[in-house]
Amino acid sequence: MEKESIDYSVQARTNPVFMTAKTAVCLMAQAGIPNAAEIVNRLGLGSAEEVSGMKDSGTILGNELVVEAKYRTMCRLIEESGYKINVDLPCGYTPKALHLTAKGLKFIGLDLPIVANEVGPILSDLTDHPERMLFEGVDATNPDSLIAALKDVHEPICLTTEGMMMYFTDSEVNAVITNVRSLLEAHGGCWITPDPEYILQFTLTFKSVLGEDALQKLMASRDAASGQSDAGSLTNAFIINPMDVPASLDRVTALLAVHGLKARRVNLAEHMPELTVYQKLTGKQTDAFKEAMRSCHYWVITPEEHWKASDVRQTDSTFSMDHMVSDGVLRVNLRGRMDTITAPELLKVWETEKSNNTITKAEINCARLQYISSAGLRVLMILQKGGAKVRLTGVNDTVWEILETTGFINIFEVAR
Ligand SMILES: C[S@@+](CC[C@H](N)C(=O)[O-])C[C@H]1O[C@@H](n2cnc3c(N)ncnc32)[C@H](O)[C@@H]1O
Repeated sequence: MEKESIDYSVQARTNPVFMTAKTAVCLMAQAGIPNAAEIVNRLGLGSAEEVSGMKDSGTILGNELVVEAKYRTMCRLIEESGYKINVDLPCGYTPKALHLTAKGLKFIGLDLPIVANEVGPILSDLTDHPERMLFEGVDATNPDSLIAALKDVHEPICLTTEGMMMYFTDSEVNAVITNVRSLLEAHGGCWITPDPEYILQFTLTFKSVLGEDALQKLMASRDAASGQSDAGSLTNAFIINPMDVPASLDRVTALLAVHGLKARRVNLAEHMPELTVYQKLTGKQTDAFKEAMRSCHYWVITPEEHWKASDVRQTDSTFSMDHMVSDGVLRVNLRGRMDTITAPELLKVWETEKSNNTITKAEINCARLQYISSAGLRVLMILQKGGAKVRLTGVNDTVWEILETTGFINIFEVAR
């Protein structure tokens, strides 16, 4: 019991982004989405205001509208896709599994282990069809975790990504798109996501119902999401810029093309079911909201035919590490990929060694480290803030570029 709670805490500190999913399910409960309130209850959560720190009722209402529109429209698009398996990456804590399995679909919920381990038992207990549901811990940037999660799937999938892509750096976005491409190649199917136009959806929603205060309430929502996730700007190469839609459409289309993918944009207003949260709006607000959603689209992404991946993965990217402490120096050898799944191992080592030794320096040998995600960088930062000056050696080109683009090259001592 105690080990579990230590693991939970280490995982939570390695990547706190899962907290955003708790806010989402609280908003769903307040919007009246079936079963969301029961999930909130079983998770022991309070109101969206308590969980997210968003104080003002207008800000909460704007968020409820966005969340319900996304949830119900995505459920409809999944059903209309005709595929019989929904792979929801990330599944968060939503009741989507209950809704889709009741309609005869199979649901595979993928999320960080901390979420998958928590939500799986709750939803399996609430459903009449536990045999139609599966929950697996993955890191979307980690190909092996995704392949393992879908190892028993032998038919085309409807892969969905709702509320995740904005939390990534550009290098993570590239890793995730590469992984999605591989999954679609292996299984067939499509990838549906509202994420490229999420800023547009928020902006248009808030402007249509909240009038003059819209901008200030939008900022409060952004600050809450960025505070909970420890992510910076909440935008990247995959996200459309509302200030320059045409140019950013070209940019995201080109990014997908590099990965052998193409997108069809589905108009939100034309596919959005009636929402229960309209009960909290005036008729005028509801009309303005529906009209505004005409300028927002969800993306249905499929593989280009005749496309061949240029960089086939050949090396083993399994993570492992060993370490020793001498003369106040923690020496670590890292191998493979350090991401949300694997980085907690280093954090555990650090906390154990620090409680027994005075450590002023961390010498990290990266000669066999293939890739590092934001979660890995966050753990290195925890070491440095905890008093161990971090020095990275043997850094390869991929990791070097990540350190450069994230600015960590100036925070740690780094050598090739
Ligand atoms: C805003 S929530 C959205 C969850 C759900 N789709 C919803 O609509 O409520 C963001 C989710 O992304 C997940 N996530 C963030 N980074 C991830 C990663 N690298 N791999 C898998 N899931 C990730 C978080 O754990 C969290 O559940």
